[in-house]
Amino acid sequence: MDLPRRGGRGAHSAGRVKCGTRVIRGTHHSMSISDIRQEYQSAELVEEDAAADPFGQFDRWFSDVLRAELPLPNAMTLATADTDGRPSARVVLLKGVDANGFVFYTNYESRKARELALNPFASLVFLWTPMERQVRIEGAVEKVSAEESDEYFDSRPLGSRLGAWASPQSRPLPSRLALASKVAAIMLRYGTAPPRPPHWGGYRVRPDAIEFWQGRPDRLHDRLRYLKQGNTWKIERLAP
Ligand SMILES: Cc1cc2nc3c(=O)[nH]c(=O)nc-3n(C[C@H](O)[C@H](O)[C@H](O)COP(=O)(O)O)c2cc1C
Repeated sequence: MDLPRRGGRGAHSAGRVKCGTRVIRGTHHSMSISDIRQEYQSAELVEEDAAADPFGQFDRWFSDVLRAELPLPNAMTLATADTDGRPSARVVLLKGVDANGFVFYTNYESRKARELALNPFASLVFLWTPMERQVRIEGAVEKVSAEESDEYFDSRPLGSRLGAWASPQSRPLPSRLALASKVAAIMLRYGTAPPRPPHWGGYRVRPDAIEFWQGRPDRLHDRLRYLKQGNTWKIERLAP
């Protein structure tokens, strides 16, 4: 599946937010966080309607998200862990999905990359708030092929390609200016056709479990988990 390169529309207006079928009038300063409460009632997820494999189910939900023109529909939280089991999480963008897994691109010397080198497992989470949906993905992680990374790198805008060279992701920088001068130096060196930096490329999460969560009334949500068993997927319902 090809994913949109840019994040759709701009930010939602503040103050009045439509959530499912209920409208919350936001006086954010006086509202206590514990008072934020929402009934989930926009849809259901039942075994009879679920796709036979999780990629089919993901395709359906992702089509809904694209149709709804959500901002950053492909933003997902990526959790990794170091060898002591200490987790770290950040948002990255999904750039491809097929039966082999979920692909994102990043710096191969970043914190996430260092963690993945030592502990090649990850968890991904999508939250699509207007649909009251969450998808949780777990599996082993591997680098995508150099050809696949090249192809995606070459499709990126020039500024992003120069940035990939200039930014030592996750390392301390002396100043914003230091970053800008690195970009300028890279531009002088490569002009408008920078090759893919060796320290930049894709990862593929090969899932062995994917859970689809649909919000339902009274906190009796639907949770269907697909578990990989050999070449097939078993579906089980989990308590909310
Ligand atoms: C909406 C959004 C999308 C992002 N997409 C990416 C991405 O695709 N790749 C990436 O390396 N960082 C992306 N980032 C930045 C990461 O969240 C993070 O700051 C960076 O990858 C460094 O993480 P690390 O130090 O844990 O390796 C994105 C951040 C946001 C908020």
